[in-house]
Amino acid sequence: MRALGQQRPVRHPVFARCYARLSHSMEAAVVEHRRQLLAGLAGCVVEVGAGNGLNFPHYPATVTEVLAVEPEPYLRRLALAAARQARVPIRVVDGTAEALPAPDATLDAVVASLVLCTVPDLARTLAETHRVLRPGGTLRFYQHVRADDPQLARWQDRLERPWGWLSGGCHPNRDIVAAITTAGFRMLELDRFDFQIMPPLVRPHVLGVAERPTHPASARQGEEVSQA
Ligand SMILES: C[S@@+](CC[C@H](N)C(=O)[O-])C[C@H]1O[C@@H](n2cnc3c(N)ncnc32)[C@H](O)[C@@H]1O
Repeated sequence: MRALGQQRPVRHPVFARCYARLSHSMEAAVVEHRRQLLAGLAGCVVEVGAGNGLNFPHYPATVTEVLAVEPEPYLRRLALAAARQARVPIRVVDGTAEALPAPDATLDAVVASLVLCTVPDLARTLAETHRVLRPGGTLRFYQHVRADDPQLARWQDRLERPWGWLSGGCHPNRDIVAAITTAGFRMLELDRFDFQIMPPLVRPHVLGVAERPTHPASARQGEEVSQA
């Protein structure tokens, strides 16, 4: 029996196998985003929802340790294999983004790629991310997001449930940038772009860096960042 507030185990056997294949076939188009996501990182990092470990080859040598949290068993096995090939030490563990296995204020960075759309509890995930980062530590994120175009956003709302069934619980309509600033982060960099190879529902993308402010009052000042 699950204790109150405990999450369901993440089991998506069909999606996991499809994702493992599909993600490899799309990697030529995605790889540059992964490189940008991780460029310049250093120190101790947690990657949430690491999937089959496609970010692992792109961690720079300045990263001293990665704790990769992946709850889905099939993808976690693939991540373990990918970790063995990586040039930085990567420990792959079972767990969820909503309950990160790290003490308060200890990490230099948290990496989240294509996972903030999927976590069942986005606010809790961002609160956990904030908790484990040291002041000045950064959240690196790469995501498809809610469309600015109201018509497309309406379709994202309408098709949220069937899309989620097909894609391991993904929500195409989340305003993830707003959620990050609401969680108390200061936006340092934000690039919005349409990723043309994706289906229209998940074409609007963001790639960015948000900081756990060294002084809490500075969080809201950082909301307005120039968008590349
Ligand atoms: C679309 S895949 C992205 C995988 C990987 N981050 C990438 O960039 O290729 C979404 C991932 O989120 C994971 N996931 C689902 N629920 C999660 C949760 N509550 N906490 C952490 N990861 C979760 C899934 O198992 C899956 O690996």
